[in-house]
Amino acid sequence: MRRGSLLQLLLFTLVAFGIGAAVAVLVPWMPTPASREAGRIWFTYWFATWICLAIFAVVAGVLVYSLLKFRVKEGDLSDGPPVHGHTTLEIFWTAVPFVLVTAISIVSAIVLAQNGRAGSNPLVVKVVGQQFAWQFTYPNGKSFGVLRLPLNRHVKLEITSNDVIHSFWVPQMGQKQDAVPGQTNPLVITPDRLGTYPVICTELCGLGHALMRSRAIVMPAAGFDSWYKAAGKPAPAPAGGSGAAGGGGSNAAAAALFTGPGTCGACHTFTPAKAAGKVGPDLDHLKADASKAGKPLEAYVKQSIEDPDAYIVPGYAKGVMSGSCCKQLSSDQVDELVQYLVRNTK
Ligand code: CUA
Repeated sequence: MRRGSLLQLLLFTLVAFGIGAAVAVLVPWMPTPASREAGRIWFTYWFATWICLAIFAVVAGVLVYSLLKFRVKEGDLSDGPPVHGHTTLEIFWTAVPFVLVTAISIVSAIVLAQNGRAGSNPLVVKVVGQQFAWQFTYPNGKSFGVLRLPLNRHVKLEITSNDVIHSFWVPQMGQKQDAVPGQTNPLVITPDRLGTYPVICTELCGLGHALMRSRAIVMPAAGFDSWYKAAGKPAPAPAGGSGAAGGGGSNAAAAALFTGPGTCGACHTFTPAKAAGKVGPDLDHLKADASKAGKPLEAYVKQSIEDPDAYIVPGYAKGVMSGSCCKQLSSDQVDELVQYLVRNTK
């Protein structure tokens, strides 16, 4: 091969590499990682990507060179020389991919093992998915609809489901983990960037799947500790002195039931609770729905919670609400919710 041809080949290869690298680097394909695990996954991703770019550049370079150099001359209908086999070339194109794929496997195996390690003292948070909300329960027994995490501490999520299969995913933290009924799946997260990130259900789980979202808030360790201590205390008595135990029920406690974990507010709109769910009927119009169903308001609300399929508001589907959510409420809690809704609906 002449030196000029070699230089030309090299030039085409470099141009192809430049174009490929620009597409890889200049387009923001991935979010900025927010956990150590995600950082390792991103490293693996880039490790494989640079290898792929190098192979792409060599293939594209040879291809373009051959297209220009060995183009058929006008009127030339003869065959090319009958070349068969090239041992050196065959060893080369077997050995190089072998080395590269082995390298990717080794890096992936190391990252996989590291990402499964929760250390000796992780914060364990139980995660329950259900149609259509997430619930996060901390070691002090308190449950929340939003996931709060301390910076730079191993967190072990124990993920399960109350009804169908969901999947827990925070894109900035890399891994997804399925929430499967009757099974607990672990996921280790070590947040290393402050901020608020989306929690997404990434397994089609029913009508409200697209709305099954929450937030993961990464807090400084000290801020997390004081939040956690405050959250561990029993809730202060609501102002005005009418406690939930008094029978009359308090708006604050019932509103917490409505928008808290496991939540009506994930699926229903209800202005007094600032809930804007769109899966189920708008609860601001309970009176109109009750009269359509031909029932007194209070009985209608109670029936709709305890036996949701007994009457379906026109335009909505049967079986969406009956799966899970309200079955976890005690009868006292159901009464509290009924009173709250009856008091506050228009
Ligand atoms: Cu839960 Cu999709």
